[in-house]
Amino acid sequence: MISIEEVRRLARSKGAVILAHNYQRPEVQDAADYVGDSLGLSIRAMEAEAELIVFAGVDFMAEQAAILNPGKVVLHPDTQSRCPMAAMLTPEVVREYRERYPGAPFVAYVNTLAEVKALADYVVTSSSAVKLVSQLDADTVLFGPDKNLADYVAERTGKEVVPVPSYGHCPVHVVITPSCLERAREEHPQAKLLAHPECLREIRREADFVGSTSQMVRAAAEMGADEYIVATEVGLLHRIEKLGKRAYPASPYAVCVDMKRITLEKVAKCLREGTGVVRVEPKVARRVREVLERSFELMGVEVPWRRS
Ligand code: 13P
Ligand code: SF4
Repeated sequence: MISIEEVRRLARSKGAVILAHNYQRPEVQDAADYVGDSLGLSIRAMEAEAELIVFAGVDFMAEQAAILNPGKVVLHPDTQSRCPMAAMLTPEVVREYRERYPGAPFVAYVNTLAEVKALADYVVTSSSAVKLVSQLDADTVLFGPDKNLADYVAERTGKEVVPVPSYGHCPVHVVITPSCLERAREEHPQAKLLAHPECLREIRREADFVGSTSQMVRAAAEMGADEYIVATEVGLLHRIEKLGKRAYPASPYAVCVDMKRITLEKVAKCLREGTGVVRVEPKVARRVREVLERSFELMGVEVPWRRS
């Protein structure tokens, strides 16, 4: 079995940077140059100086890194690592809702593929959705594919947020049910509850903090408690434990098998062989870049290639 150090050495020898999502296996996180949430990873991808980026995350994340870096090579260590929620929204469904709600902006969650982002007015992540939607000059907003995040944005902004499609959800977060949570709370009565906005409303409403994966890590550092129940994918426990805190899953079944497909061996293989190159049709990529630039501007994120 390859070690973390060997993967680090290999990446250095190839002049590559390794970016990993917070849900990656602990050893993949530990081999990465940067570990973060969707927004943090996009920012790191935009700012990367390396010509080669290895992206340890699911398909839409690697694709977005490639879109933001047209001149660089982005490698995906396992091209079968695909977000099932992103696959729940197709361009046809977006067009259908646009016809049904003329004039309503369509806000795409970052968990969508490029063809869907290309049809969006804005793209948001779990950390920016509330902030961006609250700034829109519209009372009705189309939002997809996650109906739970849509519900959270509606609660926090007071706007009508129409979920596109009506059934979109993350299969990992919906296994965190009130009865799982009750059991975790009985076992750890002193622990604070951190929840991701993809969770069901019943879970979010119980939480001491709701936010993106990196915001949850920051909250664990800042809230000052020693123990946390974590209502999201179990990979985030590693980040919180590294803070010297105890972290317990709200449900031990909240495992994203697609995130877990990526192993240290696969990271090493794509570095050695240059396999898994992420390609996006240039016309689609150009359109998505425009949508992302507009969205980053509203989020207050600086776009490096626009710096004067
Ligand atoms: P974050 O952007 O909060 O890391 O979420 C990504 C994701 O896929 C959640 O399931
Ligand atoms: Fe997609 Fe859910 Fe996995 Fe996140 S946890 S990548 S939303 S399936």
